[in-house]
Amino acid sequence: MPYWSFGFHQCRYGYKNVADLEGVIAGYAKARIPLDVMWTDIDYMDAFKDFTLDPVNFPADQLRPFVDRLHRNGQKYVVIIDPGINVNTTYGTFVRAMKQDIFIKWNGSNYLGVVWPGNVYFPDFLNPRTAEFWAQEIATFRRTIPVDGLWIDMNEVSNFVDPPMLNALDDPPYRINNSGVRRPISNKTVPASAVHYGGVSEYDAHNLYGFLEARATHTALLRDTGRRPFVLSRSTFVGSGRYTAHWTGDNAATWDDLRYSINSILNTGLFGIPMVGADICGFGGNTTEELRWIQLGAFYPFSRDHSALGTVRRELYLWESVARSARKALGLRYRLLPYIYTLMYEAHVTGAPIARPLFFSYPGDVETYGIDRQFLLGRGVLVSPRWFSLYDYSLTVSTKTGKRVTLPAPADTVNVHVAGGNILPLQQPALTSSRVRQSVFHLLLALADDGTASGDLFLDDGESPEMVGARSKWSHVKFSGAAENGGVVRVRSHVVHDSYAPSRTLVIGMVVLTGLQSPAPPKGFAVHVNGVQVNASTTAGSAAAGNHKNGALGTVHVGGLALAVGQEFDLKVVMNY
Ligand code: NOJ
Repeated sequence: MPYWSFGFHQCRYGYKNVADLEGVIAGYAKARIPLDVMWTDIDYMDAFKDFTLDPVNFPADQLRPFVDRLHRNGQKYVVIIDPGINVNTTYGTFVRAMKQDIFIKWNGSNYLGVVWPGNVYFPDFLNPRTAEFWAQEIATFRRTIPVDGLWIDMNEVSNFVDPPMLNALDDPPYRINNSGVRRPISNKTVPASAVHYGGVSEYDAHNLYGFLEARATHTALLRDTGRRPFVLSRSTFVGSGRYTAHWTGDNAATWDDLRYSINSILNTGLFGIPMVGADICGFGGNTTEELRWIQLGAFYPFSRDHSALGTVRRELYLWESVARSARKALGLRYRLLPYIYTLMYEAHVTGAPIARPLFFSYPGDVETYGIDRQFLLGRGVLVSPRWFSLYDYSLTVSTKTGKRVTLPAPADTVNVHVAGGNILPLQQPALTSSRVRQSVFHLLLALADDGTASGDLFLDDGESPEMVGARSKWSHVKFSGAAENGGVVRVRSHVVHDSYAPSRTLVIGMVVLTGLQSPAPPKGFAVHVNGVQVNASTTAGSAAAGNHKNGALGTVHVGGLALAVGQEFDLKVVMNY
């Protein structure tokens, strides 16, 4: 996934025109809430036909300058496409597809379904000519509107009509549960008796549709942009994580669906799709000010606000209390971007999800197995109560034995904690991820009981097609910290790989030590970098009594540093108590 896709995304089904989109961008900027990516649903199309523009509300001569402005501001633009191609002889995409003969067949001709544009044929992505056709349509469309990513929806494949039954494949001796009712397997999709390229039946290939469309879309974007593609797909299969992000589909603006979003994203991560999120604020129904979904959604790997046609608007700036929560939660997400992006690297090389159930880190603790209201980002960050607060490093919770603790949860705050034993690379909050990327780093060390901590930082340009590919440039730095006798803490970096040049100009300006065993603030400090004493601005605090009453561990900020990220360092902080 490209770096920018870890920023915040705003979408809605029902944006009226380009001015409406402009208003949303301005609303975010005015409220000082981060926004990386603006989206448009099927509203931008001419009569819901893929690769066309509504000539009245989203004409090219307005939409193109709008997208250019977004790009100049370091923001991105993503639009939806659906697989069904409108059967319409005045529609270029349809005419070209017919010429290529790439549609799914049924009973001797193209299978006719119905989706948003009315009558449609469905491209057969098993056919190699289809990927080529798709790539050309995408490239042609991008000449008019240079979208940064594509959202592929309705690709189960979804059909508004129930196909007739032709043979036994259409009605095998079992049914599916669709919306609580037992129905034939072809319910609201392509008939199982339909035929793909090479004579493969839809019965055998059905679950591959979204996967193959995602692969074709990813390949098309890569070819046209030369950059790492961003694709969001509703339908996925084993292996889809290689090509696409996923959202959990049409949820509702309810507390129940807010809760279910956690196990949905955790499952998807375990299935091998690390970039996943649920529609923030809920898609269907009217949200309320109190729901404040962003407090959770800011920590989904894929963080997008989306809502259904005709429901109340839910952009984060509309309610002042929501805006406050959004600034706080997204502010933290943006500071964590270097950490989250490093988790993407870990997902890329090991397959480990970004958002993880607690048992992923604590398989020996059976108490964690059933927990579905909290989750981890990587091994270091826990979303919901425990450990050290990331808003105030002096708020510490220490439980050695997996005890349940109750923490204050004020309305505008989500509890997010870092686990002892971790070093998090943080950057400075900004309104776009491209700004965050240029800012100074802070290293946050949360020492474990044994006084040690470790962590990683992965850096690259965020958009080269392959992470750690043969031609890519990247830097990977490992950090370790340890408390030694006599009030000494040492922090070292080890450069595993360093071919990404900005790692030499980006600096770590501050190191924060938390979890220090002596709760009394030190009386004095000496700071050494690579054996040489330096003038650092050092401040200390300790966990004030009465915070969570679960621990009182000290915190020290060592500022005024300028440690190049790509250069190994040995930092020694001596505290005199
Ligand atoms: C169904 C999708 O799940 C939803 O997110 C989208 O807004 C609508 N289709 C309209 O395109």
